[in-house]
Amino acid sequence: MQRLIPTLRNDQVDEALISVINTLQICAKEISFRVGQGELAGVLGSTLSENIQGETQKKLDILSNQLLKEILLECQHVRAVASEEEEGIVLGNDNGKYLVAFDPLDGSSNIDINSMVGTIFSILPVPENNSGDVDMFLQPGRNQVAAGYILYGPSIMMAFTTGKGLRMFTLDQTVGEFLLTKKDITIEPETSEFAINMSNFRHWQEGMQLYVDDLLAGTSGPRTKNFNMRWVAAMVADVHRILCRGGLFAYPWDARSENKPYKLRLMYEGNPMAWLIEQAGGAAHSGEERILDIQPTDIHQRVGIILGAKHEVETCLGYLKGSQ
Ligand code: AHG
Ligand code: MN
Ligand code: MN
Ligand code: MN
Repeated sequence: MQRLIPTLRNDQVDEALISVINTLQICAKEISFRVGQGELAGVLGSTLSENIQGETQKKLDILSNQLLKEILLECQHVRAVASEEEEGIVLGNDNGKYLVAFDPLDGSSNIDINSMVGTIFSILPVPENNSGDVDMFLQPGRNQVAAGYILYGPSIMMAFTTGKGLRMFTLDQTVGEFLLTKKDITIEPETSEFAINMSNFRHWQEGMQLYVDDLLAGTSGPRTKNFNMRWVAAMVADVHRILCRGGLFAYPWDARSENKPYKLRLMYEGNPMAWLIEQAGGAAHSGEERILDIQPTDIHQRVGIILGAKHEVETCLGYLKGSQ
């Protein structure tokens, strides 16, 4: 089985970018070790602090963030990093060519129940004539040069793209190497499985409510087929399932809070996952536009997300339009 770095060389990926991805796999091994030790390492549970998102931070959110930040900033090709857990960007090497945005631990409510979590990353080029501040990161997702995630599940997997399709690697714990285990991944345009937090039903727009009503109606409704529902409560695991066996994932607009009508973040969750899904032939939309075309105005901005099987995403968007 092929190792991760040689596959990148085969694709003629820029050596500096290979070095950043190599650094990310080192981080992945460090974090997966801590996650795997669980209770034994004393890293479960919450802290007393809140992040910039207004969420209580878990000990592993902070530890994973610290590891990623420290290890990535040692890489000479990293100009700066931005994280869900950091208020501002953190600068690295002045001559670095790349910016790395990351969600150090996605699905952190799963930590304490020994369920799946992951790390999501997005690599952007440093723009020419840049100011050297946060504005460097404010690029649409279509500018990404690499994006992916590491899933800490029963096995440790790293999935990423550099724009030449989507590949998945599995960590061989006996040799400490990520080995290529899945390539040419494609998502079927049709599906009969969806992932959404149904407890938010009453907060959604009417179009979203009608769409889900019709999914639930099964063979006796207008969709004339039965749909199955899955919800891991970790986007990284829900998206991984969709990449493996199809489906639709949505975290749409909701009216719970006027200031934060969306839950998921564009730079750390939306953009990297949208690119992976598009690379596999799926679609990723905010409800208003293609996620990868959104011009960010803030590194922590949130976004509606509807992604997965192309035709199912289109059907869902049709319901949203019908109610506008
Ligand atoms: P994070 O742990 O990085 O803050 O992200 C959590 C996100 C995402 O992983 C998941 O899809 C969603 O929150 C789960 O939300 P619910 O609380 O609505 O299940
Ligand atoms: Mn969080
Ligand atoms: Mn997350
Ligand atoms: Mn997180």
